[in-house]
Amino acid sequence: MDMARPLLRFARWMATATATALLVALNVNGGFGQARVSSFPQLKTGDQIYHAACVSCHGEDGRGMPTLISAFRKPSSFPDFTRCDQTTAELDSAYKGVITHGGPYQGFSQIMPAFGEALTSGQVDEVVHYLRHFCRNPHWPRAELNLPLAFVTEKAYPEDEEVIMSAVNARGTPGVTSQVIHEQRFGVKNQIEVDVPFDFQDENHTWYGGVGDATLGIKRVMFSSLHTGSIMSLFGGVIVPSGNKFRGFGSGATTFETFAAYDQLFKTQTFFETQFGADLPRHTNLAPQSLFFNTAIGQNIAADHGLGRLWSPMVEFVSTRDLANGAKMDWDVIPQMEVSISPRQHIRGALGVRFPATNTVGRPVQLMMYLLWDWQDGGLTKGW
Ligand code: HEC
Repeated sequence: MDMARPLLRFARWMATATATALLVALNVNGGFGQARVSSFPQLKTGDQIYHAACVSCHGEDGRGMPTLISAFRKPSSFPDFTRCDQTTAELDSAYKGVITHGGPYQGFSQIMPAFGEALTSGQVDEVVHYLRHFCRNPHWPRAELNLPLAFVTEKAYPEDEEVIMSAVNARGTPGVTSQVIHEQRFGVKNQIEVDVPFDFQDENHTWYGGVGDATLGIKRVMFSSLHTGSIMSLFGGVIVPSGNKFRGFGSGATTFETFAAYDQLFKTQTFFETQFGADLPRHTNLAPQSLFFNTAIGQNIAADHGLGRLWSPMVEFVSTRDLANGAKMDWDVIPQMEVSISPRQHIRGALGVRFPATNTVGRPVQLMMYLLWDWQDGGLTKGW
């Protein structure tokens, strides 16, 4: 019977877990005093806490202890704290949640114990700070600067994300526009982006559907600082005329797009995101040149003392202006709310309503929604 296998694994796990608990306790007590994981009031610095409570599994060098860990079935998501690409994408609050409440709090393995009883909140902050020294390259933008995604304003942070976004006309001609957005980081500061829209429109009671004009582009972080809470990026891309112009799905013109994005996070978890750019068609007889300026202002509100589900109400102000004589500026306002869906917070969703504020003729009110998957942080079925 194969029943023996999980039993054996469980026994082995119990043995190692007990051994670790003992090790941890002995490390601290330096003898055979109390053989249990007790609180560590005498440990002040992150260094001391790490060496007392974490080194037995995570190793002196932060890569993981080969001997102990090989006794476990090492989870594929086991962290190597020297890998800046993995660690800088993680929030301090996410680390704090796992250390305080244990691996399962974010859908990780239960081998990662909960230290909420043994360490104070301040001690957990210290050890999280200590974990950060394992990544030696300070140029990786930190996850805190990856602000919630607004519907129109592009953020400055380079992401590994798939997003499905839809806008449904709530008033005006019936129609649905959806976008599939693929974003992928490369190197320390860069990200490629592919954005393919799909349009469905009711024209005199017949529905037409088709692909819109797709965007291909590259974004690069020019500077970022967790200390000041700021990040700035530049983007360059091409909008290809893949949409059917005669159905109104595309402009028919190859267009260069460029923008600068600047985001600011304040200590109060209030934030704003701004984006300023231009669309420059190769043939201006097909489509006019235009400028756009978008801003989102919002507030992060996290449950469970900042460790749990994240709610981010935002208001977005979106404007475009054609560079033609007598053209007016179109302004839209989009109140919206993003919320993290999975406990690991790598799957998020948002709802909003887009209200045209100026030149409202022919511009519908739209119900907007998206689902976002930060795939570096785990598969769709992971992290629950
Ligand atoms: C009994 C062994 C063990 C001990 C002791 C231990 N860890 Fe872990 N830890 C793990 C394992 C295993 C994982 C991986 C869980 C997974 O990926 O499913 C992990 C994951 C983590 C993560 C999550 C990384 C991520 O991907 O988000 C952090 C942070 C962490 N540990 C910090 C600590 C700190 C700090 C301490 C000491 C206070 C500590 N661990 C003590 C075994 C341990």
